[in-house]
Amino acid sequence: MKDPQIDWSSLGFSYTPTDYNVRCTFKDGKWGEIEVTDSVYIPLHMAAACLHYGQESFEGLKAFRGKDGKIRVFRMEENAKRFIRSAEGIKMAPMPVELFCEMVRKVVKLNARFIPPYESGASLYIRPLEIGISPQVGVAPAKEYMVVMFVTPVGPYFKDGFKPTKVCLSREYDRVAPKGTGSIKIGGNYAASLYAGQKAHDLGYSVMLYLDPKDKTYIDECGAANFFAIKDNTYITPSSETVLPSITNMSLETLAKDLGLKVERRPIHYDELETFEEVSACGTAAVCSPIGLIDDLDNGRSFTYSENGEAGPKTTELYNALRGVQYGDRPDEHGWIEIIEIDE
Ligand code: PLP
Ligand code: COI
Repeated sequence: MKDPQIDWSSLGFSYTPTDYNVRCTFKDGKWGEIEVTDSVYIPLHMAAACLHYGQESFEGLKAFRGKDGKIRVFRMEENAKRFIRSAEGIKMAPMPVELFCEMVRKVVKLNARFIPPYESGASLYIRPLEIGISPQVGVAPAKEYMVVMFVTPVGPYFKDGFKPTKVCLSREYDRVAPKGTGSIKIGGNYAASLYAGQKAHDLGYSVMLYLDPKDKTYIDECGAANFFAIKDNTYITPSSETVLPSITNMSLETLAKDLGLKVERRPIHYDELETFEEVSACGTAAVCSPIGLIDDLDNGRSFTYSENGEAGPKTTELYNALRGVQYGDRPDEHGWIEIIEIDE
């Protein structure tokens, strides 16, 4: 298969064109066949519901090439289930888990030459999305939907990779509303976060850390990632109805227990920030991204977690355990991996 001539180890989290994408349309109350195309464009009616009323959801998952050459996809059924919850949350047609998984297998196989080599530490990011496509002007759910899945090879989400990054916090911004759409993965949440995210970047931070939108007292979401902290041999992560239930976070909780840590999922008061030994963002894109500094933009308080510019020991252990399972260097004890057979 032709080498795509990519400098794999210098990839960041950006879009690189690949060969094919796959699509499936929901029409007359049922899902059609999976279609394969090399077009990067989606033909859309100008009155399509997604364009006006934001009927759009998406997912993010990864495929990894192991030292043994095998291609592993991480926990895709969990993404499929969340894709259903997102669809239901904004009244779109939910795609059955098996159809979702079939599309993932197909799009990965079709673009196998873009799965980065093991040594590069990069991976193939899989981006499923669903949109309401039928034309209408009334505010109501669409009648027809399209799911598109494309892939793109990616490197680290934050430019520093696994080096501690700086984040800021402010009560001036909410990502989502208290009883809103924070726990599902819809485009509108990300549109609503762009203003605060850009402000964080302009000030030299990687991301905006949000407090809960109701009381502004508890730690909530860390940009487009979950938040966790380590204290007294305990992995602590927010329980909150406004954060996205992260599959990475869920996996790290399990791995933390395997590594002998206690796990607490509970509200995390802002004042606890000064008591933590290590803090980190986590997600498919972010993996485990250690946080070295949190600056509170409203009161000037700063919380530091890394004196030497390196990630803390527990975060490092967790990161290695997760990457180990994903790349096949550690046994898949929890059944998180599906190996995709590829003829290369
Ligand atoms: N929180 C938000 C807002 C996200 O966009 C993501 C990314 O998917 C996550 C958390 C992490 O979730 P996961 O680990 O399932 O990718
Ligand atoms: C992910 O971690 O997969 C995300 O979706 C985060 C971001 C790129 C939106």
